[in-house]
Amino acid sequence: MRVLFIGDVVGSMGREMITEYLPRLKKKYRPQVTIVNGENAASGRGITEKIYKKFLQDGVDVVTMGNHTWDNRDIFEFIDQAKKMVRPANFPEGTPGQGMVFVKVNQVELAVINMQARSFMVDLDDPFRKMNQLIEEAKKRTPIIFVDFHGETTSEKQAMGWFLDGKASAVIGTHTHVQTNDARILPQGTAYLTDVGMTGPYDGILGMRREPVIEKFLTALPTRFEVVEKGRSMLSGCLLELDDMTGKAKEIQLIQINNDQPFLE
Ligand SMILES: [Fe+2]
Ligand SMILES: [Fe+2]
Repeated sequence: MRVLFIGDVVGSMGREMITEYLPRLKKKYRPQVTIVNGENAASGRGITEKIYKKFLQDGVDVVTMGNHTWDNRDIFEFIDQAKKMVRPANFPEGTPGQGMVFVKVNQVELAVINMQARSFMVDLDDPFRKMNQLIEEAKKRTPIIFVDFHGETTSEKQAMGWFLDGKASAVIGTHTHVQTNDARILPQGTAYLTDVGMTGPYDGILGMRREPVIEKFLTALPTRFEVVEKGRSMLSGCLLELDDMTGKAKEIQLIQINNDQPFLE
């Protein structure tokens, strides 16, 4: 099974990159499943029902989320009906939405799990123990398991990668918005990448307008962060080749589209 994963879509520029490049990426790489992290899709904060539906219309199979899941109030109106969306599975018990979803490709199923890390982030349930529980549940249906691990620190993400080596097909990080160059396949067959990076403004600071961010560093005063809405764009993702029978990863490849690394058809 070939899976395309695209990292944190930020604002309208990120959404436009999906509309423009997803068909071209599909033509080039022929993924059977496309997963997109949409936690920043609505002006950098959360997602709306309209945007979620547009993603599906553009050819996205599953939308993953993160710490910005609840930033747009619209989410509470539709998350329980959003069958193709996963939010961090370690949010407290009783939280709306789901942390794991299954996608069927021909006769084979892929489990998609979203989990959030804890270092320098809010104190959610233990993602490691929660992951054990979900992997056990997923294994009853399929050996092919994709994990979007949404976290700040490289150490916690590496720890999760090694913790799940041989248990998950892929552990791919999101949240930092900067793609790391450490794509690898761990010894027991788990594809690993610390962070897949972001999709949206190329010249902002993690997708936000530079001036207020620099101002904050200069003055330590509260400033209002706004998403960049015009200028150059980028897309960050990775492509995974997973074995249908064993669930082990065979290949992981980084994808970067920007003005310094143009897309080649
Ligand atoms: Fe993000
Ligand atoms: Fe995040």
